[in-house]
Amino acid sequence: MKVLLIGSGGREHALAYKIKESKLLEKLFILPGNTGTEGLGENVPGNMNDSNFILSFCKKEKIDLVVIGPEKPLVEGLADILRESGINVFGPNKGAAEIEAYKSFAKGLMEKYNIPTAAYMEFNSQMMNEAEKYISNQNYPLVIKADGLAAGKGVLICNNYQEAASALNELFVKKLFGNAGDKIIIEEFLVGQEASIFAITDGEEFICLPAAQDHKRIGNNDEGKNTGGMGAYSPAPIVNEFILEQVQEKIIKPALFALKTEGRKFNGCLYCGIMINNNEARVVEFNCRFGDPETQSVMPLLEGDFLRLLYSTAIGKLDKESVRYNGGASVCVVAASEGYPDEYKSGFIISGLDEASKEAFVFHAGTKKDGENILTNGGRVLGVTSFIPTNDLSRAKEKSYRAMNKIHYNNIYYRTDISDKAGI
Ligand code: AMP
Ligand code: GLY
Repeated sequence: MKVLLIGSGGREHALAYKIKESKLLEKLFILPGNTGTEGLGENVPGNMNDSNFILSFCKKEKIDLVVIGPEKPLVEGLADILRESGINVFGPNKGAAEIEAYKSFAKGLMEKYNIPTAAYMEFNSQMMNEAEKYISNQNYPLVIKADGLAAGKGVLICNNYQEAASALNELFVKKLFGNAGDKIIIEEFLVGQEASIFAITDGEEFICLPAAQDHKRIGNNDEGKNTGGMGAYSPAPIVNEFILEQVQEKIIKPALFALKTEGRKFNGCLYCGIMINNNEARVVEFNCRFGDPETQSVMPLLEGDFLRLLYSTAIGKLDKESVRYNGGASVCVVAASEGYPDEYKSGFIISGLDEASKEAFVFHAGTKKDGENILTNGGRVLGVTSFIPTNDLSRAKEKSYRAMNKIHYNNIYYRTDISDKAGI
């Protein structure tokens, strides 16, 4: 099978490593890929949002399956264009991807189909007065979200009325998130523990991969600014059998039914971000793709044939037996550039990659090649990811940090508490 994987992050490096293991694979292309994916297949230079180029590449190379990693090309309809030309795609069409693209759509769907989530109200930029009135008689903290895509930054948690009023001003007047904030959601703050569950689905049937937990804040103990994710671990013990059953019955099944009923049948990975409190799970967000960095910690936990899973999903015949949880544990620690998520410097030589790779998977995110050297080239640089064959997160954590200690570059920054939330 000839496979084209779209994307350039740590998530795509992890997906590439798992696809590469498959006996079904003849050749893997990654567009554009990164320094890490070079060793796993052929990186194809190109713009992942250029659907015409991707379509002609697929025809020229007779690609059997396209796997789309990031949300942007999905939301812009890359899957639709490829499918119209008879190409098999893992990843939802534009209509289904709107479950991530527009929070108002996701919330409306959940309300209509009784899927548990935070109570909310929707306002547009013409409704400043109504929104101000609304926030004056709410309980705090209160959550204000831009409706559209805002690179994971469109969520403002407000501790009091003043913060909420200034958030409204940022979104509606200063246009902090541009057009993405023309419409907003104001919702109840959910307390509890978060988890991410990936449902792989052909639109009818689904399987869940081992649950993971992300660490979105920059600092230890979940302090400081939100980031794209500073680390993840899997399996997340908070998602016990009871919670998993609940998520499957009350969230995933009704969500897939809702999408299908609304003419937006979902094919790909439905990412369910949930909050668990008092043995009850509610949806924080849906995404239309694998999570980053959760994927880095979930991939090492799969045995079987991951490419078979992706392909059978894409052709609408999900093979539920294609992969299984292998019983292990994995911790991914992200090495970032000091200053991230604000300003940071790049271009520093990274050393110790080979040594670290003896201990753990070192997934690349923001790196670039410069002759013999590999340089830092982004806010999140690497995802150092351990695997332990038994479900022992504390050993997995030790292993990740042992590997991390071998990696050096100027301005390296990482959290030191990834997986502590598991309480193990
Ligand atoms: P999102 O971009 O929707 O994933 O939100 C980013 C992060 O904000 C989530 O991972 C949560 O940590 C937090 N968050 C979003 N919505 C809520 C909510 N209703 N209650 C509490 N935390 C939330
Ligand atoms: N880890 C959060 C996300 O991928 O959206």
